[in-house]
Amino acid sequence: MLELSHLSHHFGSRQVLDDVTFSVAPGELVGFVGPNGAGKTTTMRSALGVLRPDRGEVRWQGEPVDHTVRRRFGYMPEERGLYPKMRIGEHLQFLGELRGMSGGQAKEASTRWMERLGVRERADDAIEKLSLGNQQRVQLAAALVHQPAALVLDEPFSGLDPSAVDDLAGVLEEETARGAAVVFSSHQLDLVERLCEKVAIIAEGRLLAFGEVDALRDEHGGRRVRVELENAGCDWAQELEGVGVVATDERGCLLELAGDVDPQQVLHAAQIAGRLRHFGYERPTLTELFREALAETTRPVPAPP
Ligand SMILES: Nc1ncnc2c1ncn2[C@@H]1O[C@H](COP(=O)(O)OP(=O)(O)O)[C@@H](O)[C@H]1O
Ligand SMILES: [Mg+2]
Repeated sequence: MLELSHLSHHFGSRQVLDDVTFSVAPGELVGFVGPNGAGKTTTMRSALGVLRPDRGEVRWQGEPVDHTVRRRFGYMPEERGLYPKMRIGEHLQFLGELRGMSGGQAKEASTRWMERLGVRERADDAIEKLSLGNQQRVQLAAALVHQPAALVLDEPFSGLDPSAVDDLAGVLEEETARGAAVVFSSHQLDLVERLCEKVAIIAEGRLLAFGEVDALRDEHGGRRVRVELENAGCDWAQELEGVGVVATDERGCLLELAGDVDPQQVLHAAQIAGRLRHFGYERPTLTELFREALAETTRPVPAPP
């Protein structure tokens, strides 16, 4: 298990991480989401020991992460640090050897990854000659070549075309299935929702939520109700105290219930308004959860009366 415990860090006078704690178990794919400047890169750099946070600890299988342990990690940094002039095949092999593989193993693994990621025929080209999308594929191969126990990828999907996104998603799923602990940061919440069982949501250096996407959606799901009536719009709902109409369409409406509203009363009101076709709880999507979590942190402090 990769455990990040109570990471705090500041740059200058600015606190950029504030007590960030979450973990990634072998075989788990965790999505790390948050707006720009939230602290994702700083967290990932801390996990890899590229940056030493002011406070907090990083452990792998219960042990503090030192140089030897770190060699078993794979990292795709945001700044994509490969040597632009080096040939792809040589570069990957070099990285494999640097992380403890024999020459033969490293060569075999580099070839396999170039093949898997569709850049095999470019093996003798310098990295700088590749398109950005292909450079990104090589970056991924560089993180994976030594079969890492834990994989930390900073915005691996950014700038990829849809087919490259699918390829990368497939690779992450395979790596997770093989037993690697995988965490990646992303802005693409739909993608995170599709791929990840677990998410960590960060904003302004603080972790707002961590857990299974399903559980988080359930937790916040009880206050949202979809109602469909025959031949009745949503006007009846507008009149209910503590009930907001979030969305309407030709079939019905989505209602948001304040904490003190009893859904049974809403059901009752609906039955009076028209013939009931559908009444059910709706779970928010990850995107909606994310927006709500952000709205809570960035809600302005009300001015004193
Ligand atoms: N080396 C640095 N020096 C000063 N400030 C930094 C440095 N790196 C990051 N920051 C600041 O720390 C905050 C968090 O940045 P970062 O971890 O890169 O966020 P994210 O990856 O979520 O966009 C930002 O406000 C950023 O400007
Ligand atoms: Mg970043």
